[in-house]
Amino acid sequence: MVMVQRSYPLGSGQIHRTIYIYIENNLSVDTSIHWHGQRVVNAVDGVPGLTQAPIKPGETFHQTISFPDPGTYWYHPHLDSQEAVGRGLISPLIIEEEEPIAVDHDLTALVSRHIVGANGKVLSDFGEVFPSRWPKGTKNTWFINGRKLMEGTARAGETVRLRIINGSTMWPFFTELPDFEVFVAAIDGHPLSSPIPLPRSYALWPGQRYDLLFTVPDCSFSLDTGVGFSLLNMHVIGKVDAPRPLPRLPTNPIAPIDLQNAKTIPLKITRREQSGFEKARAAVMTKMGKQDNTGMDWFFNGATLTEASLCSGGAAPLFHARKGQTVRIKMENTRINVHPMHLHGHSCFTISPNGEVIDYGAVRDTVNLLGNSKIEIAFVADNPGRWMLHCHDLRHQAQGMMGYFAVV
Ligand code: C2O
Ligand code: CU
Repeated sequence: MVMVQRSYPLGSGQIHRTIYIYIENNLSVDTSIHWHGQRVVNAVDGVPGLTQAPIKPGETFHQTISFPDPGTYWYHPHLDSQEAVGRGLISPLIIEEEEPIAVDHDLTALVSRHIVGANGKVLSDFGEVFPSRWPKGTKNTWFINGRKLMEGTARAGETVRLRIINGSTMWPFFTELPDFEVFVAAIDGHPLSSPIPLPRSYALWPGQRYDLLFTVPDCSFSLDTGVGFSLLNMHVIGKVDAPRPLPRLPTNPIAPIDLQNAKTIPLKITRREQSGFEKARAAVMTKMGKQDNTGMDWFFNGATLTEASLCSGGAAPLFHARKGQTVRIKMENTRINVHPMHLHGHSCFTISPNGEVIDYGAVRDTVNLLGNSKIEIAFVADNPGRWMLHCHDLRHQAQGMMGYFAVV
């Protein structure tokens, strides 16, 4: 976990929130690191073919990175992410606020689900998502910070900030509603202008984060997921004399959108239809116990993008935007699958059909596009460079569901 401590003003009055990082690639494959959600400068966004060359096995890569936004983020490789993230190459990235946020417990839960074989090792076939085809004894298991459970001790009346990050390759995460008040104070790292009570039915899709705030109740409790495990077991011992109020998180500076003068981009998501031959071949492959991905390729406006074409420099952008221009992307999902759509270098608002900001005014980097539905997002393209827009269901991403846009 990278935790960048509170920034400190330099003599110039500038703010310093910078790390110098060495990435040493000890894998047998090329890799890179992407700082998910941080509106960093383009050169350090970690996308091979777009912002840097892949880091080769045995190579060391140096970078100086300034993180603009306090809050809860995470990082992971951005080359064959399905396998890298599926094998657990994920970590929280916590950027502290200017002024310390006064809570008694600041907890981080990076939740992730992995397909683990009977030998306790992660299943090596990352394309294989159908349990019926897994080797005997294979289980699809949730981990919390790489373990089974978070446990803690607190006193009644203490305040807790619980940061939840879904670092799964493709599964949504949720908890049951506890019987005490819990607030969502920030979504995807960015504080809401007013916190909302934790919705009864919510889901964090891959890549998404919540910062929860609550006051410890009188009795020990657990935050259950409703699917056979709990996220956090808190043993409550004793009581504070004077409970402090829940803190306010200061909002991050997000440029206001100008919908009237915006550039509108339609983004239609389709999946390739299988021909009769492909269907027959897939059926035979299935019988043989093999996986066949033909017919599962995903398209943005009829185009698909692969990492190979990105790295060879041959891919055209989805669109261009002028620096400072508001961009509205009207996404349309023609299939039943959910797509957590992730935007690099920017955070966006969600807009209703009549042009109002919805979703509690949240500013997200990963927006859920439900099955057979439409959604519109808007953001100011204020970060120059070439930025990815892709599905954070990493299987869909591997099957072509990505593109990029250029801000000039
Ligand atoms: Cu979390 Cu483009 O990635
Ligand atoms: Cu998807």
